[in-house]
Amino acid sequence: MLDIVILAAGKGTRMQSELPKVLHPIAGKPLVEHVIQAAMPLTDQPINIIVGHGAETVSSAMQSYPIQFIEQKQQLGTGHAVQQALPFLRDSATVLILYGDVPLIQQDTLKLLIQQASASSLGLLTVTLEDSTGYGRIVRNEAGQVTSIVEQKDASAEQLKIKEVNTGIMAVKADHLKEWLPALSNNNAQGEYYLTDIIATACSHDISVNTEQPAQEWEVLGVNDRRQQAQLERIYQQNLANQLMQSGVTLLDPARFDCRGSLTAGRDVKIDVNCIFEGQVVLGNNVTIGANCVIKNAQIGDNCQIKENTIVEDSQLEHDCVVGPFARLRPGTTLAAQAKIGNFVETKKATIGRGSKVNHLSYVGDATLGKDVNVGAGTITCNYDGINKHQTEIGDRVFVGSNTALVAPITLEDGVTVAAGSTLNRSVEKDKLAIARSSQKAVSGWQRPTKKS
Ligand code: UD1
Ligand code: CA
Repeated sequence: MLDIVILAAGKGTRMQSELPKVLHPIAGKPLVEHVIQAAMPLTDQPINIIVGHGAETVSSAMQSYPIQFIEQKQQLGTGHAVQQALPFLRDSATVLILYGDVPLIQQDTLKLLIQQASASSLGLLTVTLEDSTGYGRIVRNEAGQVTSIVEQKDASAEQLKIKEVNTGIMAVKADHLKEWLPALSNNNAQGEYYLTDIIATACSHDISVNTEQPAQEWEVLGVNDRRQQAQLERIYQQNLANQLMQSGVTLLDPARFDCRGSLTAGRDVKIDVNCIFEGQVVLGNNVTIGANCVIKNAQIGDNCQIKENTIVEDSQLEHDCVVGPFARLRPGTTLAAQAKIGNFVETKKATIGRGSKVNHLSYVGDATLGKDVNVGAGTITCNYDGINKHQTEIGDRVFVGSNTALVAPITLEDGVTVAAGSTLNRSVEKDKLAIARSSQKAVSGWQRPTKKS
């Protein structure tokens, strides 16, 4: 039986921000949300989150999760923070204490730690650091047993040399916390109620302190300023990049890869540098993504090529499509197999049929195109009359000449040909040629003006 407490009441002064620290993102997701998602599968109870600074902002940002928000009005220390949760903890539960600003903690590490808590023991997650400055030091006796934690500001010169430090993360029986926390004192260098003081209390009650170490050091790194935030962002992205490469994806430079969401890729996918994936992205087999693309909430089918500098958002592509360079697929774009969207083309709420091409400098919005349509350079669907949006319907095998304006609502039936430079505001029947442009004249004997001397 597990209850979880996440401490998230601190101000995060060093972030220099209006936004509460735990809402600052890693990979587009608030720090505290990473912690919630790592912890949630471990319990069937709502997670207790201690909030203080920006309490309302934090609770409304996380309202979709099963969470008990507990306000700590004054931040009197980590021990005081956990104390606020005591009324919500079940007596016989193991309590896992986590930090809203330590986002990369892994579930496997937590599972090991939880196993260390019993009626006669508690679990403490520690890490050995080359530079332990700022952390609480783990004090052990000659037998190697942990006897206390001393905070940096309370430590002796000898204790400051200890490299094993407290991560803050621990697992303790609720009845122990209920007994020990109310007895904490704030008689220390910072005048705070230290959660860490329960370690010495445990020892005096013959409760053993069992330590676990995280599999990787980065799991327990915290975010206190923007520099640490950027560091953790890189670690997170590097981990994701490694996972993708292990699963067979080619990343031309894993250091220049960003995913803020989830990316699923088939076999032999190749991703060039500086691409950003957001939301849910699914790539089929043999997909290639050129440099500098932004792909958000998209399904991209087998053998598609997304060429460099392309933006794809809320769109679905069947197999063998070619998009870009410099194309922008806006939400609601659907490309059937073998469709082509070329450079400087923008699409929105557009369904493009099989094998159809919009290759250059066009806008196709609120439109449906059939199969094997060719849209010439500079074609615009004039979908907006200033108040309402209107549809453009284009049948199979339509040929739209360059620099055509299609004033919607309008339908071009199957096989229609539109002459280049036309502005059409009426529908055209099957197989007809539509031409709507001023006719050309050739004036003979034309004299160019000359310069007056
Ligand atoms: C704490 C530990 C220290 C450990 C370090 C790891 C204590 C006394 N010290 O020190 O041993 O090495 O974390 O990073 O526990 N918080 C509240 N309410 C409060 C105070 C803090 O919610 O009243 C939250 C903060 O938002 C933060 C976390 O608890 O997320 C840790 O608090 P912080 O003040 O940063 O503790 P440290 O001094 O870093
Ligand atoms: Ca801290």
